[in-house]
Amino acid sequence: MNQNGYKIPPPIPAIRNTSLKSPLFCANIPLKAGEKMAQYTELENAREILKYLKADIPVFYYDTIDSTNIQAKRFYEKHKNDSIDTPTLFVADHQSKGKGRLGRSFYSPSRTGLYMSLMIKADSVIENIVCLTTAVSVCVTDALTQLCDIDPKIKWVNDIYVNDKKVCGILCEALTNPDSQKIDAIIIGIGVNIDTKDFPKELSDIATSVGQAVNRNELCAIITDNIIDMCKTIDDRKFIEKYKARSLVLGKEITYFENGVTKSATAIDIDNNGGLIIQTESGIKTLSTGEITVRLKND
Ligand code: BTN
Repeated sequence: MNQNGYKIPPPIPAIRNTSLKSPLFCANIPLKAGEKMAQYTELENAREILKYLKADIPVFYYDTIDSTNIQAKRFYEKHKNDSIDTPTLFVADHQSKGKGRLGRSFYSPSRTGLYMSLMIKADSVIENIVCLTTAVSVCVTDALTQLCDIDPKIKWVNDIYVNDKKVCGILCEALTNPDSQKIDAIIIGIGVNIDTKDFPKELSDIATSVGQAVNRNELCAIITDNIIDMCKTIDDRKFIEKYKARSLVLGKEITYFENGVTKSATAIDIDNNGGLIIQTESGIKTLSTGEITVRLKND
């Protein structure tokens, strides 16, 4: 039973959507005629997302979970030999152990945020993996501007800001197949503060919410469709221009931490791989999307 009193049905490998090639796993709930394939734990919520979703993919919805990224990883472990080649979406109303970048946590209270992880097969983007999070941040800002009257900015690498405070974080994790030792799948985790008002003390100065009535299911569906579409065209790097236009750091003085040392520079451009080109005292250099944290000078 989950907290709403629903019995969580065990997944059964039975129902197949004819439009999908892979064998899929569906909860033991009859699908309505013409309904898209999904695995439901919270049937109605998953149906709501499917109402808006163009992509024909399985959706897993949880009232509460430790982390949708962790759940996606569990799913991968269980099904890695089932040749599931469709993207798979995991969404939760609440996360008890939301994960952020660099080992941080992501505050994920119930009802006021969107917490989603889209697992995709790595083959589609492996050549472009270096700029995946850059591209995803454009997918998210596109969805936000489509649904809300806000002007989201992107702080390198992929934090999304409104009015100089963070509204969304993105955590992409690669899963390596132990047999082939190759990256097999990628989990794209996205957390959006939609209407969260009471942030813990340590976040209240740096985090904010979209602050407008947004349909979480619709936002989730649009972000998912944007990412699935983007993966097909990531090669052309068209998203880089949009990324630059939304950049919060270009033209600004920044500090960055490298090998334990704080350094100053001016952010001057974004390269085709999403790298941040900076002017330092000793010349121009590129920070690649990795374990470097950039701060605006007055942060
Ligand atoms: C960051 O800002 O450091 C990244 C935050 C990513 C949070 C999202 S919420 C959905 C998904 N599940 C997680 O545990 N983390 C990501």
